[in-house]
Amino acid sequence: MEKNLNLYIETFGCQMNFSDSEIVGSLMADNNYFTIQDISLADVIFINTCSIRDRAEQRVRKRLKEFRSLKKKNPDLIVGVIGCMAERLKDKLFEEEPIIDLIAGPDAYRDLPSLLNKVKIGQKAANILLSAEETYADINPVRLDSNGVSAFISIMRGCQNYCSYCVVPFTRGKERSRDPESIIKEAHNLISMGYKEVTLLGQNVNSYSWNQGKEEINFASLLKMLAEVDPALRLRFATSNPKDLSDELLHTIANHENICNSIHLPVQSGSDKILKLMNRKYTRSWYIDRIKAIREIIPGCAISTDLITGFCSETEEDHMETLSLMEWVGYDFAFMFKYSERPNTTAAEKYNDDVPDSIKGKRLKEIIDLQQKLSLKSNMKDIGEKFEVLTESISKRSDEQLSGRNSQNKVVVFPKENYKTGDYVDVVITDCTTATLIGKPI
Ligand code: 5AD
Ligand code: SF4
Repeated sequence: MEKNLNLYIETFGCQMNFSDSEIVGSLMADNNYFTIQDISLADVIFINTCSIRDRAEQRVRKRLKEFRSLKKKNPDLIVGVIGCMAERLKDKLFEEEPIIDLIAGPDAYRDLPSLLNKVKIGQKAANILLSAEETYADINPVRLDSNGVSAFISIMRGCQNYCSYCVVPFTRGKERSRDPESIIKEAHNLISMGYKEVTLLGQNVNSYSWNQGKEEINFASLLKMLAEVDPALRLRFATSNPKDLSDELLHTIANHENICNSIHLPVQSGSDKILKLMNRKYTRSWYIDRIKAIREIIPGCAISTDLITGFCSETEEDHMETLSLMEWVGYDFAFMFKYSERPNTTAAEKYNDDVPDSIKGKRLKEIIDLQQKLSLKSNMKDIGEKFEVLTESISKRSDEQLSGRNSQNKVVVFPKENYKTGDYVDVVITDCTTATLIGKPI
C-alpha cells in the first residue's frame, strides 16, 4: 500500500480560492494525500494564490520566503504554487522563486497528482492550461477550516466581462456554469453532514446559465431549486454584477424565507466617466435603478459593495461622485481598495495609472471614513429589532457569548445560555459597534 502523505494548503484571495482549495483537498485525498493543519508536518505545501492586486502577490512572495526554513529542515518538502498567480506568471515563477517545485493554474487541479510524481523524480512540473469546460462538478470538496455550519458551493467558474482593471479573465479563463444536478447533490451532502448555510460562488453568479434540453436554467431558477431543497438551509451568493441583476432574481429572493436578504453589488465607482473607462457596462443611473428595485422588492435587504479609488484619470469630481453615491445607497458594508495596475489588462495597456499613490491613499481614507459612518448608522437602526441568527461559533471576545449572522449578513453577538453552534436563535438587538450587532435571545 502507498504511504499517506501530509498536504498543507494555504489560501490567499477570494472565497472562490477557498472553495478551490477544498476541491484540491478532495482530489488529493483520492491520491493518498491528506490535508493537515500543522505546516511543520507537511510533505507537500500548496499555496493557493491571488493576483488581483500587486499587494496580494507580494504577500504570497513573502510567504514563499518564509517556507525556506521549512525546506532546510526537510529537503524533500515539495512546494507548489497553484491558482491565479501560477496562471498569470507561468514558468517565470520558477526563475523568480527557486523554492517552487510545481505550478498549477485554476483549471489544472486534476493533474496535481501526476505533477507531483514528476517532482518526485527530480523535475519541476507545471500545468497552466485553461479549460472552457472544467467545473469540477463531480468533486465532493473536503471542508477545510470549517465551522460545520456554513459552506461554499462553487456554481460557475471564470469571467469574460473584461473590466479594464481586472486580471481575472486572464487567470481564470472563460465563464462556464456547473451542472445544476451536481450542485443540488452537493447541497444534499452538506445537509446530511449537518450544514445549515450555503454560499453559492462564482465571479458573476447572476449570469449562471445551464441548458437542459430546450429549457434554460438561469441563476434565479437555480436559486429557487436550491431554496426548495430544505427550508432550514440558508442560501447566500456572491458576487453579482449590477448589469445582470434581474427583477426575476429579486422576486425569487423575496419569495423564499431561506434566501438571505443581503446582496453584494460591487459598484467600483460613482462616476459615469470612470465606469465607462472601467468597462463596467452600466451607468450610475442604471445602478441607482437596481438599488431602487432591491429596496422595493426586498424591503430591509442589506446592500454591500466593492470600491476602487484612484483609477486612471480619476479626478476629485469623480471621487466626489463615488462619495455621494455611497451616501445615497447607504451601504451596510464595503470592501475598498486603491487601484493597482495589473499587467496585460486593458487599463495597463491603454490608460495611464496617473493618480499619485498619495492621492489614492487620501481618497481611500475618505471612503473608508464615510463607510464607517454608514455602517454605524445602519447598525444603529437595528437596535430594538428582532432577527433570526444562525449561530456560527463562540465569540472571539468571550466564551460566554456566541457569534452568528442574521439574514442581512451582519455579525450578531449574544449570551450563550443553552444555545450551540448551528442553532437558529431569535435575538433582539440592544447595542452595536460599526462592525457588530449586540443582542440577547428572546
Ligand atoms: N486594483 C484594485 N482593486 C481591484 N479589484 C479588482 N481588480 C482590482 C485592481 N486592479 C477589486 C474590485 C473587485 C474586487 C474583488 O477587487 O473592487 O470587485
Ligand atoms: Fe484573486 Fe481574483 Fe483570483 Fe480570486 S479570482 S484569487 S480575487 S485574482
